Amino acid sequence: MAERRNRQFVLAARPTGTVKESDFKLIEGAVPRPAKGEVLLRTIYLSVDPYMRGRMGDQPSYAAPVAIGGVMVGGTVCEVVESQDESVPRGTYVEAYTGWQEFAVVKARGLRALDPNVAPISTAVGVLGMPGLTAYFGLIEIGRPRPGDTVFVSGAAGAVGATVGQLARIAGCRAAGSAGGPAKIDYLKSLGFDGALDYRAEKDLEAALDRVCPKGIDVYFDNVGGPITDAVMTRINIGARVVICGQIAGYNERGKETGPRDLWQLILKRARIEGMLVSDHYEHKDAALARLAGWIGDGRLKFREDIVEGLENAPRAFLRLFSGANLGKQLVRVGPDPTRR
Ligand SMILES: NC(=O)c1ccc[n+]([C@@H]2O[C@H](COP(=O)([O-])OP(=O)(O)OC[C@H]3O[C@@H](n4cnc5c(N)ncnc54)[C@H](OP(=O)(O)O)[C@@H]3O)[C@@H](O)[C@H]2O)c1
Repeated sequence: MAERRNRQFVLAARPTGTVKESDFKLIEGAVPRPAKGEVLLRTIYLSVDPYMRGRMGDQPSYAAPVAIGGVMVGGTVCEVVESQDESVPRGTYVEAYTGWQEFAVVKARGLRALDPNVAPISTAVGVLGMPGLTAYFGLIEIGRPRPGDTVFVSGAAGAVGATVGQLARIAGCRAAGSAGGPAKIDYLKSLGFDGALDYRAEKDLEAALDRVCPKGIDVYFDNVGGPITDAVMTRINIGARVVICGQIAGYNERGKETGPRDLWQLILKRARIEGMLVSDHYEHKDAALARLAGWIGDGRLKFREDIVEGLENAPRAFLRLFSGANLGKQLVRVGPDPTRR
């Protein structure tokens, strides 16, 4: 029988400016064998996320960079194909952090086992995983929405943003957001957003905000930064909460962004601005996941996935996050999902 090989994407070069496919390299190695207490995992889904842009550079951050020649990091949904730990038997589906590769050996302890009867296993890296938790903790803990508030979210059609808007509605708020292109605006309307603006098409963002948020903005959940954030800051209400979750508009920039940053508005509106990192809140992860699963179960929280086939297309899938080609949580199907027909 032919020896099974493990295809892996390693970081070939630290990007300057926009990431290129040539910044990654596909290599092949032997499939590792698990020792006692370990399991061999086969990757089914790989999550590609904007934060990976940061790991490709070597600037100081909250996490260490990927080494040149190192396997690209990333959240995965896997099947246990060999087990040396009876608590996680062969055939178990798990959430792991095994990166851009087909196989990996990890410690069995600490893996989150997934039940395909509760939700599609792919959601463990989406709405019932890191992006869903980011929306939950960012909005509920930092944004502190009150019934009747207007919540505005940038990057609203993405994995985090689409969840933020729906959670805002569940909290009794008016939800509005910005996204790029008419298909994304239609998607936001289908999710029940009360207002949506296409930031690429609008000539005057402040006027567009007046249209979709006629009573101003009480909570701004920022996934993007850049011009939409400048415009939103002029429309926040007294006592507003501004949650800085992501700044994707600047992730491919080489230098520091310059331009108007209207912090005067924080004085004028006695507002609070706070950055958030989802992992700071993981102590309360189980309770949050249970609430998110409950809302999915009763139909109040919907999710959408955008799946690219094949590990060889992972760089292309990753680049979609920056061109805005993804509609929903961007995943790569690395191997067959036996739970999905
Ligand atoms: N702080 C944390 O703990 C944490 C955790 C997870 C994610 N995040 C951040 O949350 C944000 C959303 O992440 P996600 O996983 O949900 O990704 P996503 O929104 O599903 O995908 C990225 C989206 O960003 C938008 N975008 C790309 N370049 C842009 C630009 N120059 N200006 C405006 N929009 C642009 C695109 O949508 P359009 O077509 O609408 O432009 C694209 O679809 C990211 O900034 C990410 O870094 C933070």
